[in-house]
Amino acid sequence: MTDQMLLLGIDVSTTGAKALLIDGQGRVVSSATTPLTLSTPRPLWSEQDPRDWWDGISQSIRRALDEAGVDGSAVAAIGLTGQMHGLVLLDEHGEVLRPAILWNDQRTGPQCDEIRRRLGKDRLIQITGNDALTGFTAPKILWVQQNEPEIYAKARHILLPKDYIRYRLTGEYAMDRAGGAGTLLFDLAKRTWSEEVLKALDIPAEWLPPTFEGPEITGHVSAEAAAATGLREGTPVVGGGGDQAAQAVGVGAVQPGIIALTLGTSGVVFATTEAPLVEPEGRLHAFCHAVPDRWHFMGVMLSAAGSLQWYRDTLAPEVAFDDLTAEAEDVPPGSEGLLFLPYLTGERTPYPDPLARGAWVGLTVRHRRAHMTRAVLEGVAFGIRDSFTLIREAGLGAIEQVRISGGGAKSPLWRQIMADVLNVELVTVNTTEGAAFGAALLAGVGAGLFEDVPAACEATIQITGQTTPSAETAALYEKVYPRYRALYPALAGEFRAIAETVGA
Ligand code: XUL
Repeated sequence: MTDQMLLLGIDVSTTGAKALLIDGQGRVVSSATTPLTLSTPRPLWSEQDPRDWWDGISQSIRRALDEAGVDGSAVAAIGLTGQMHGLVLLDEHGEVLRPAILWNDQRTGPQCDEIRRRLGKDRLIQITGNDALTGFTAPKILWVQQNEPEIYAKARHILLPKDYIRYRLTGEYAMDRAGGAGTLLFDLAKRTWSEEVLKALDIPAEWLPPTFEGPEITGHVSAEAAAATGLREGTPVVGGGGDQAAQAVGVGAVQPGIIALTLGTSGVVFATTEAPLVEPEGRLHAFCHAVPDRWHFMGVMLSAAGSLQWYRDTLAPEVAFDDLTAEAEDVPPGSEGLLFLPYLTGERTPYPDPLARGAWVGLTVRHRRAHMTRAVLEGVAFGIRDSFTLIREAGLGAIEQVRISGGGAKSPLWRQIMADVLNVELVTVNTTEGAAFGAALLAGVGAGLFEDVPAACEATIQITGQTTPSAETAALYEKVYPRYRALYPALAGEFRAIAETVGA
């Protein structure tokens, strides 16, 4: 591949529409992001207009090409990624029928109960790998079926956010299998739509698009899209992957034993599997990987770096993150008996509970701000350890390496706490562009520039740093972790009662 042959990764996240251009060595050539806003027309609702994604992406592609000083003919292939689980409903002409209902929308509690009732929870988990969660796509479809029958009657196509962009780029209705598995309508083992689930939920199978592996070509840029974006007509677009699968590709977590730990607003633990393993109670997500014929487990903590962000913004808005965490370095591990529960926006793993709440437990007059900061960093690490515990129990082999990324991974103190609480070595990698980078690598495989996804990762991703656990601190955290573990079960009933009494 020559340096003129660039790869374009497109990421439709909740906060921005991003276009990233890399070269064949994985060097970032240019990147542009157009901010997106979120609408919450009612409590628990979270929506975006798919047309805003397309406007944002078109602008970002143009800016990325401009910044790189190239035209669309420099792009060899395009990979898509984006927020998972969101419901895009289109009519027979491909027109948007209502705002997309997003992954973090919480309106579908009753529909989740109904899905469990119709299929049986065990059977649901057996087929799809997952329990019904409000975030997933299937309960959103039921919600529209039940609450907006006039819109449902016009529906003909169901897509995910990234696949709406694919539709606008290529005119094709298609989906990647990592995303497909996140709909709760997929047969995990067969990597295709489950007739049994679709039938039980009265969802017409013909509304769902064909699905493709991450590096497979799903279509080509249309003349109309070329005019809107500056891309070359005919540029191939590959399947890509949901943001978590693409993020894992982007840090090289594509084989068993290499765990990706992402410390963004949410905290994600991602473990590749060679078979469609399932956690029997559905406490871990089990989806298809963006790597062909691989699957993965995933634990999602909703407020990871989000906990630190909230804490800083609310209690120390004038203090820089680095200064705040520097204070906490002088506090001994265990924060002198102060524990923090990070369930500030409810939780997903290991407690799928929208009413779980945050707390500091064990406050005394001796505790200072530095203790509270350290307790936040430790509480998030304990919450992440919960996902590791589940992954270990679910039959995954040895954990050889943990690749940490995301905003929270920039703090050396937090990396050390994480290594000590998990008692594993953490490594950082040279790539910092996350899911968009992974999507661009998938495009490179689809265009034949790399032999397969592991080869693409091998060619472009290097280890840049290591954090080794301290045996002494790890031994101390080993004793504190059961105390953390005991707090949610002790408080869960009260969280519910408080919400009913005075909560929102
Ligand atoms: C994954 C998930 C989020 C969204 C938004 O299960 O819900 O990662 O994809 O980023």
